[in-house]
Amino acid sequence: MPELVSLRLEDRVAVVTISNPPVNALSPGVPEGLRSSIAAAAADPAVLAIVIIGDGRTFIAGADIREFGKVVSGERPRGSLLPLLREIEDCSKPVIMAIHGTAFGGGLEVAMAGHYRVIAPSAQVGQPEVKLGIIPGAAGTQRLPRLAGVAKAVEMCAFGDPVGARDAQACGVVDAIIEGDLLAGAVSFAREAAGRPHPKTRDRDEKLSNTDPAIFDRARQQAAKTRRGQMAPLAAIDAVESATRLPFDEGCAREAELFDRCLYSTQSKSLIHAFFAERGVSKIPDVPKNTPLFEIRRAAVIGAGTMGGGITMNYANAGIPVIVKETTQEALDRGMATIRKNYASTVKKGKLSQAAMDQRLSLITPQLTYDGFDQADIIAEAVFEGMALKKQVFGEIDAIAKPGCILASNTSYLDIDEIASATHRSELVLGHHYFSPANVMRLLEIVRGKATGKAVLATSMALAKRLNKVGVLAGNARGFIGNRMLTPYLREAQFLVEEGASVEEVNQALYDFGMAMGPLAMGDLAGLDVGWRVRKEFKHLEKPGVRVPLVSDRLCEMGRFGQKTGRGWSRYDENRQASPDPETAALIEQAAREAGIERRNITREEIVDRCILALVNEGAYVLGEGIALRAADIDVVYLNGYAFPAWRGGPMFYADTVGLPAVLARIEEFRQRHGDDLWSPAALLRRLAETGGTFGSLDRQRETSAGG
Ligand code: 3HC
Ligand code: NAI
Repeated sequence: MPELVSLRLEDRVAVVTISNPPVNALSPGVPEGLRSSIAAAAADPAVLAIVIIGDGRTFIAGADIREFGKVVSGERPRGSLLPLLREIEDCSKPVIMAIHGTAFGGGLEVAMAGHYRVIAPSAQVGQPEVKLGIIPGAAGTQRLPRLAGVAKAVEMCAFGDPVGARDAQACGVVDAIIEGDLLAGAVSFAREAAGRPHPKTRDRDEKLSNTDPAIFDRARQQAAKTRRGQMAPLAAIDAVESATRLPFDEGCAREAELFDRCLYSTQSKSLIHAFFAERGVSKIPDVPKNTPLFEIRRAAVIGAGTMGGGITMNYANAGIPVIVKETTQEALDRGMATIRKNYASTVKKGKLSQAAMDQRLSLITPQLTYDGFDQADIIAEAVFEGMALKKQVFGEIDAIAKPGCILASNTSYLDIDEIASATHRSELVLGHHYFSPANVMRLLEIVRGKATGKAVLATSMALAKRLNKVGVLAGNARGFIGNRMLTPYLREAQFLVEEGASVEEVNQALYDFGMAMGPLAMGDLAGLDVGWRVRKEFKHLEKPGVRVPLVSDRLCEMGRFGQKTGRGWSRYDENRQASPDPETAALIEQAAREAGIERRNITREEIVDRCILALVNEGAYVLGEGIALRAADIDVVYLNGYAFPAWRGGPMFYADTVGLPAVLARIEEFRQRHGDDLWSPAALLRRLAETGGTFGSLDRQRETSAGG
């Protein structure tokens, strides 16, 4: 195995190279290697200056995130990089950090301890720790304001977004951009620096004086709005503020105190879970890593409605030429107008250039025929939900598509195998279930039919990445993972209003829990008619005598579909601002009276538990039935498709943090009151709760057994 850190001499400059693939994280051995290499270089009279560089695709991408769990569980002591960084800063020879890829977290903290930083034009720097529920823990909140200024440091530490090379140079984080060979540029920079006095970041306080205190107030307000419920962004602001009030060492001590508070929090455990869950989700045990992939060079989409338009944009955004077909010129024009409007609004926000918009539009061919479909490598279907129509369309495209062309349905609930039966290529048929708006939401459920080929699944996973989505494998069950779990969640929200909670109380309780919006507000946004249509399609599957929600069908019968009609559960003004609707309240009361439902006061705690534990219990069924491969996959679905708060880790991780025995006991309570049909605990949940297991431990067990 190559050394984690190596040292060689080049033109009287010591080159210290970190080789800890894939991202040169500061795993055990790396800090030690850096320390001994720097000491050796400092002691060598032949060395004029030192360059630190990363091997492979990046500089240091941060601390090794896997280590945090070991520290929290007591398996490893909490180390500190501070002494190493001080040694680098105190080195008698200039230390030049050569950055490519990403200098993130502890990586940027190491870089800032150097005397100079040079950077490749494509590289990024950042303090993304808040995205893991922690704050910089190696003086990032103290050195960054000294280099970049307080406002920039607050922004970077509290919100965690990366900064490109030019921005980093403009704000003072780096000293030079090296076009061409980074190492050669860094070595020549180092030789020049050798004769000059070299500055210590910790001694530079010119950017700290006269700090406007409003910077912190504004950042706190912004964090309260955009990072609602999260503790780390506020802690990061406090830590940077302390850099303006305390000497460097005391500022570091304050940072350490805040770091520890965050590290030991459930929020941080949840966000770290979410980080690894997203990276584990593309691994499908029976689909080997080296499965050959189909090439996707051209795509075609059928239907330019709400979803088809967004799917078309996804392909164009990834540079893949795409045909979009409709049935009428009017529908096609409407679809293309929406696509143009979406792009234009991104251009207006400054997030896309006009040239890029034009280029993307030039990749889209709108038409009313199947011309060119025989050239497509993948055809995505997004026509109205209905089995008969889906089968007709799949029959048509099967006759036209070239051999090897993948046929993907965006159906929300329908049986993929039945859709595939309309073709002669069921091994090439699967679900690609996007979430609305399809060009924005990151989730893509990849639905495996019984005949879907492994190469088709592997290609779909790779394609998801190319389209900037996170692909999650789902089994072919009604509603797949996400929508299947949503049904009992929405059911409970509706039962709660029938039992006496107001629409506003239900929405507020779930919003305060951390959901982007309450369940009834979500129904109004998505359109109540969507669920109404689905219920009609599956009416024959309803079990007689089992309680069903009473009000949403009535709202739909009255033409109250939610935001788009100005009324649904709530009333909406022309800016789509919601207000309580007394008519809905009266309708609910009347429906409850007619059905003999007793009305009572309902606590916020009950609202949250009924809705969230309905998700958890259905998630446990989904997992037990093998519809999801891992509990973590379910979490990824809910974090990326339903705006579940990442700082709670997803519904299954949340259940683990509550404790499965407590979750089971509460579900049993609901079962006593509402009956077996609605609240039978999943066998898997019961088994885990009774044997001291967790969803996380189950995932780890399965991973170990899959690995051999
Ligand atoms: N520690 C441990 N593993 C890491 C890691 C880290 N800091 N960063 C990435 N990895 C792993 C991933 O889990 C993945 O592993 P896998 O192949 O087994 O699934 C592999 O490296 C590649 O990662 P990605 O799939 O994410 O690769 P990308 O090229 O898409 O992205 C990246 C690379 C931008 C570096 C991205 O991985 C990333 O953002 N990593 C996290 C960076 C971060 O948060 N750093 C701060 C850590 S906390 C810290 O430094 C505290 C300090 O203040 C003391
Ligand atoms: P939509 O009604 O907005 O669009 C459907 C479009 O398909 C219409 O423009 C229609 O003219 C067109 N169409 C019908 N038959 C066609 C044919 N033979 N050839 C070409 N075009 C045809 O519907 P939406 O919401 O886009 O839904 C499409 C599919 O996506 C459905 O299966 C739905 O269940 C699913 N879906 C919808 C989501 C949503 O939030 N709206 C989310 C995820 C999936």
